[in-house]
Amino acid sequence: MTHPQTHPEKAALALKALADFWADMGLEEARALNVPRPAPQRAPAGTRPAAPARQAERQLAPSVAGARPEPKRLNNQNPIAEARRLAAAAGSLAELRATIQQFDGCQLKKATKNTVVCDGAFDADIMIVGEAPGGEEDAQGLPFVGRAGKLLDKMLATIGLSRQENVYITNLIYWRPPGNRDPSPAEMQICAPFLSRQIELKKPKLLLTAGKFATQAMLGTEDGIMRLRGRKMLYRQEGLSAPIKCIPMLHPAYLLRRSEDKAKAWDDLRTIAALCDEMGIKRGTAL
Ligand code: URA
Repeated sequence: MTHPQTHPEKAALALKALADFWADMGLEEARALNVPRPAPQRAPAGTRPAAPARQAERQLAPSVAGARPEPKRLNNQNPIAEARRLAAAAGSLAELRATIQQFDGCQLKKATKNTVVCDGAFDADIMIVGEAPGGEEDAQGLPFVGRAGKLLDKMLATIGLSRQENVYITNLIYWRPPGNRDPSPAEMQICAPFLSRQIELKKPKLLLTAGKFATQAMLGTEDGIMRLRGRKMLYRQEGLSAPIKCIPMLHPAYLLRRSEDKAKAWDDLRTIAALCDEMGIKRGTAL
């Protein structure tokens, strides 16, 4: 049945997006990607900050215009402080992107081709935060452009969202970890001031965190993604006039390996679509 306000051609496009999302993604290839990951690098016991401390770390970017210090030479002795200072000095998203691209305080940068900061519309209401660039992202200098990114685009398309129109995409960290290993707490802490500043400058109405790492780091929790996915949460940051609504999603790379969990992802997408409608966030045509 055609919805009275839905143009048949647009409805067909939305239906195609849905079919693409559910289609077998080439499971053999996906399984081949599922190489065992090295154990996550954890800081020695006692040195890893507790979740609230990690959240506090994210909240340090001063938001007051005029209180911005002048950028100086990079101080690799204390890359977190340097990242915080440089982030605070950036007055626009474009300036911040250039600042991150010039930043040399994260050792990951040495082994990568590109610094991968963001993609999508600067004025989008929705901001997606993923984990870290992979091989294809490093090659192209853009987030979520490999197989997981293509699935993410299909997922978004099922509910009328796209990076061309209404979504801005970034990651917790801006350089590919070798062998796509998990980002370390130190790497996340170094990049955290840049993410806080992106949020402060962009002021998204809705945040979507993709996968366990982004969800835990953003929400300052150690709860698992299966517990948090699809839940309406609040992201708080010093300097923001109000908390930002946030919904954790299953990571598309996980869905490539576990296509049986796409039903859960679909439930979460419906929750995201309903929240967008409730908040007056414009979506394109979707089912
Ligand atoms: N996975 C992520 O979390 N981010 C990317 O940019 C690509 C894959």
